[in-house]
Amino acid sequence: MAKYLVTGAAGFIGSSLVRALLERGDEVRGVDNFSTGRRENLTEVFGRMDFREADILDLKAMQKACAGVDYVLHQAAIPSVPKSVLDPRGSNRANVDGTVNVLVAARDAKVKRVVYAASSSAYGDTPTLPKHEAMMPNPISPYAVAKLASELYMVSFYRCYGLETVSLRYFNIFGPRQDPSSPYSGVLAKFSLQMLVGEQPTIFGDGETSRDFTYIDNAVSANLLACSAPGAECAGRVFNCATGRRITLNETFDALKKLTGYKGAVKYGPERSGDIKHSLADITQSQKHLGYKVLVDFEDGLRRTVEWYKSQRQPVGA
Ligand code: UD1
Repeated sequence: MAKYLVTGAAGFIGSSLVRALLERGDEVRGVDNFSTGRRENLTEVFGRMDFREADILDLKAMQKACAGVDYVLHQAAIPSVPKSVLDPRGSNRANVDGTVNVLVAARDAKVKRVVYAASSSAYGDTPTLPKHEAMMPNPISPYAVAKLASELYMVSFYRCYGLETVSLRYFNIFGPRQDPSSPYSGVLAKFSLQMLVGEQPTIFGDGETSRDFTYIDNAVSANLLACSAPGAECAGRVFNCATGRRITLNETFDALKKLTGYKGAVKYGPERSGDIKHSLADITQSQKHLGYKVLVDFEDGLRRTVEWYKSQRQPVGA
């Protein structure tokens, strides 16, 4: 049994990690400032973990949170491309300054390893597909720049201080508990809810934009593997966390139509600033060095996700 600190524990990915760790019998501490995380994501597990309401920008709180911890899973972030375009300073504070605080605290507390929620947005709009880790990053949005900067800090803390770090470049993670209600929500969460309530979804662009949509269980498993893999295989390195398959927005709309029973058409709007056109990962390195496998594919993941949103809409007692 090891002790884990999950930053952003009340977020979609953070809360999924908390549940997986508790299920394995590990000890979990979590921090969240509820800027994007939600208490409801942790409702039935609050009593089984050491939860602290704290901001990653508060170094003292991070030092206390890292005390006695074996592994840090750093998920806390303001995870939105369009939000970062509107507020690049806010994005930089949470996504870069916050990360440096977590790293300093983890280093001083002699944590064994820090696993970081990096982003596929670091690759930017390079025409080469699939994207592999040896490619030159080419970030477009302030969000992508911040995520890449933090990734470089991860490497730097390994090289300068010997703190073992692993960065996982998430490719559009989706699944239960992803917030569907904000204009900045991930597209699958947003479309699932809209189509379940009979609201017309809008595709930004012509719908041929594609993503390597990755179900949450795959991301959870990548994090656990990134903690257990030998340091010689992964410390100070960056790995794609994805499925190796891309789906267009038009295809997601068709798949969701079947799953939600939505009868209407989709609306098309202008492309979103800062967006990239296509995203697809090469997952060879994660498979080789972390032992990563795709556990749940897109179709199965989408089915489970829609089932979950449906279950949330049932009246209590129904
Ligand atoms: C990006 C990053 C991802 C990161 C995420 C955090 C890439 C490839 N991925 O995701 O690593 O974790 O930010 O937010 O850069 N869309 C619509 N209609 C909507 C909403 C979105 O058509 O109502 C479109 C967007 O314009 C975009 C696609 O759907 O083309 C995906 O958008 P979104 O789910 O927000 O994620 P990314 O911006 O791709």
